[in-house]
Amino acid sequence: MPSTTWADAQGLCAFVDASPSPFHVCATVSMLLTGNGFTELHETDSWPGEPGRYFLVRGGSLIAWSTEGVGRTAPFRIVGGHTDSPNLRVKQHPDLSSAGWQLVGLEPYGGAWLNSWLDRDLGISGRLSVRAGNTVQEKLVRVDEPILRVPQLAIHLSEDRKGVHLDPQRHLNGVWGVGTERRSFIDFVAERAEVPADAVLGWELMTHDLAPSALVGTEQDLVSAPRLDNQGTCYAGTQALLSAAERPGDQVPVLALFDHEEVGSMSDRGAFSDLLSTVLERIVLGRGGGREEFLQTMAGSICASGDMAHATHPNYPDRHEPAHHIAVNGGPVLKVNQNLRYATDAAGAGAFALACDQAGVPLQRYVHRADLPCGSTIGPITASRTGLSTVDVGAAQLGMHSSRELMGARDVRAYSDALAAFLTPTA
Ligand code: CO
Repeated sequence: MPSTTWADAQGLCAFVDASPSPFHVCATVSMLLTGNGFTELHETDSWPGEPGRYFLVRGGSLIAWSTEGVGRTAPFRIVGGHTDSPNLRVKQHPDLSSAGWQLVGLEPYGGAWLNSWLDRDLGISGRLSVRAGNTVQEKLVRVDEPILRVPQLAIHLSEDRKGVHLDPQRHLNGVWGVGTERRSFIDFVAERAEVPADAVLGWELMTHDLAPSALVGTEQDLVSAPRLDNQGTCYAGTQALLSAAERPGDQVPVLALFDHEEVGSMSDRGAFSDLLSTVLERIVLGRGGGREEFLQTMAGSICASGDMAHATHPNYPDRHEPAHHIAVNGGPVLKVNQNLRYATDAAGAGAFALACDQAGVPLQRYVHRADLPCGSTIGPITASRTGLSTVDVGAAQLGMHSSRELMGARDVRAYSDALAAFLTPTA
C-alpha cells in the first residue's frame, strides 16, 4: 500500500477525532484551510474583489472556494457534503434522577442506530451561547472525559433474551453518577468551558463515543471510526479542495458542507437554506459581475453531492441489489435512484465517471434494492434549490448511522483523488 494511502486514512482518523460535533467539523476544516492560504470571510462584511482562497462559516455549515487563476465568469465545480451525524443530544432540562442514579436527559438526533449508543463511554461537545454584558457570544465546548454512559439492560431482565426494543423517550438517558443530590449538568459543562454557569443562555450539546478512530484488520486496510457518514466526505472534500486550489483550471472549485442533513436540511444553514446560492452569487458580484453573469455561470456549473454509500454487507448480502455489488477499497461509488432519492442523472454520472477515469481510480455503481426504502442526501435538495446539475457520489461503508462505522482505508485517498479531479476538470 503506498504510504500516501496510510497517511490519508490516518489523516481521516485524526480529522474525525478532532470533530465530535458539526461546529467542530467547521473548526477543523477552517484550521486546515487557513493553514493552506485560505482567508475567512464574514457574511456581514463586504467581500474582497481580488481573486483568492476564501471560506465562510454559518453555524455548523461551511463553504470554501478558490478564485485564484480563474476567469471572472468561470462556472463552479462544487463538492457538497454534510457536517452532522446522528447522535444523542442533551435536552433543555437535562437533570433527572431515577432509582438512586443521576441522569442526563438525552434524545436522538437524526436516524441514530440506538443500540450502538449503549454501553459506551461518552463525552460531550457542541456550542454554548454565553452572555457577555448585553451581547451573546458563541463558545465551542468539548469534554473528552468519560462522563456519560447509556447502560444496557441485562440479558436476564429482557423478556425473551432476543434483545429489547429501545424507546427513545425512556431508554436513552445517560447516567453520570449516583446519589440523591441533584447536580446541574449545564453547570458542569459551563465549568469545563470556563464560563460562568449563570452566563449560559442556550446550548446545542451532543454526546460522542470516546474510543479513538483506528485502522483495523490484519492489513490495517479498514477504518473503524464514528461519524464516517459524513465526515468521510468532509475530509476527502477538504483534501480535494486543497489539491484543486494548487492547480487552477477554468472553473471555480467550491466545497459546501451543510449541517442538518440528518434531520431534513430545513434550517438557516441546511442545504434547503439560501446559503449555497447566496455565496455563489456573492462570489460573482464581488468580482464585478452582475445578476446576468451569475445566472450564466450557474447554468454551466455542476455539483457532486458527496455522502457515504452502502458496501455490500457480508452477513446480510440479501439486503443488497444482487447485480450491484459494492466493495470496500473498491473505489468511489456513483449512487443512482430512479425515484430521485439521489440526484444523479446521465450528465452528472458522465462528469463523475470522467473524473474517476482522470484520477485513475475505479468507479462502482450503486442501486438500492427496489423493495427497500432508499435513503437520501443533500443532492436532490441542492439540485432543486439551485438548478445545478447534480451527481450523488460517496465512499463505501458498513454500519451507516451506527455510533461506530467501518470503511476501506484505501478508499479515503481514492475518494479524495476523484473529488479533486472533479473540481478541476481539464479542458
Ligand atoms: Co450521510
